[in-house]
Amino acid sequence: MNVQQALKASANKLKLQNISSFVLDVEVLLLEALNRNNNAPHPSPLPRGEGAKNKSWLYLNNEYILNKKEEELFNDFIKQRLENKPVAYIINKKEFYGYDFYVDKNVLIPRPETELMIEEVLKILSGVHTLVCKNSDTNKINSYRLKPELQNFNLIDIGTGSGCIIISILNELTKNKINKIIYNAYANDISLEAINVAKINAKKYNLNKKIRFIKDDFEKFLDKEDIYTSDKIIITANLPYIKNGDYKNLSENVRKYEPKIALTAGKNGLDYIGKLINLISKKQLKSNQKIYLFLEADPDQMSEITAILRERLANVDVEIIRDLSGKERIVKLLFGN
Ligand SMILES: C[S@@+](CC[C@H](N)C(=O)[O-])C[C@H]1O[C@@H](n2cnc3c(N)ncnc32)[C@H](O)[C@@H]1O
Repeated sequence: MNVQQALKASANKLKLQNISSFVLDVEVLLLEALNRNNNAPHPSPLPRGEGAKNKSWLYLNNEYILNKKEEELFNDFIKQRLENKPVAYIINKKEFYGYDFYVDKNVLIPRPETELMIEEVLKILSGVHTLVCKNSDTNKINSYRLKPELQNFNLIDIGTGSGCIIISILNELTKNKINKIIYNAYANDISLEAINVAKINAKKYNLNKKIRFIKDDFEKFLDKEDIYTSDKIIITANLPYIKNGDYKNLSENVRKYEPKIALTAGKNGLDYIGKLINLISKKQLKSNQKIYLFLEADPDQMSEITAILRERLANVDVEIIRDLSGKERIVKLLFGN
């Protein structure tokens, strides 16, 4: 079987199964089969080497005949995709904010809408209104200069999953040579398996010694006084927010493959978000201490969240941030003076 035949035959199979992304999926799966270093232990958290084949290689070499191992691997990938398994779980990889993350069944596949949270945190840290210039090769972004008053901060990621939020933020700071700043970084998740995935990703980006991983319920974790050591505390939280009753309406590939613990949050989907707001609002802040809290939620939940905030927090700065498609997606709260 050559490249052209592999692409065509498999794309047809996926199309017949009503998989709308059939062309892209087949290309990605074929490239993974061709690039996977069969001698490397799998899953290999390491980035692909310089010589990795890419999409243009496929079309310039469409008569290349797959060797036995490549063909077996590719057929196995297509079989899994025909069972609706998401591509990210088949290849154990998902790109988020321009970085590749190792993912498996223990963590939610990072979603593009969550990238907005990274932008917003970087705006707070740098004071620069960043521009998103999405480019398929280099993916983003402008340079940052840290605000002097934010040179020392604590960054806390609740429900870290793959670690995509905290690792992307710290990667951006490192990339912009803001590596002399002092920060304490904490990643928390209730799932030990998720924490282990986040650790794989932190190691890949040399952040394993910079982030402290805490497996616990976030309510207990946020009770620990040693995470409030700085005057500036930034908390990011993409906690579950699907209503229990809506779970059955999610697509089959989400229900069958993604961890339910990462998705549902009670009758109105606000069990966790509500608790987190409550917890932070009760925190006794020192004078000059500030907590920035970033929450992701469903656009349909924003009026309910605003109502909770109005009822419980009269003196807190609230901003609701829209994503590129105009949907309200992130709630930004500022506690303290
Ligand atoms: C929607 S996923 C988000 C994962 C990742 N932050 C992202 O944006 O892709 C929610 C995460 O919250 C974790 N989680 C659920 N309940 C939790 C709790 N009570 N305390 C801490 N983490 C929790 C889940 O294990 C899951 O990894």
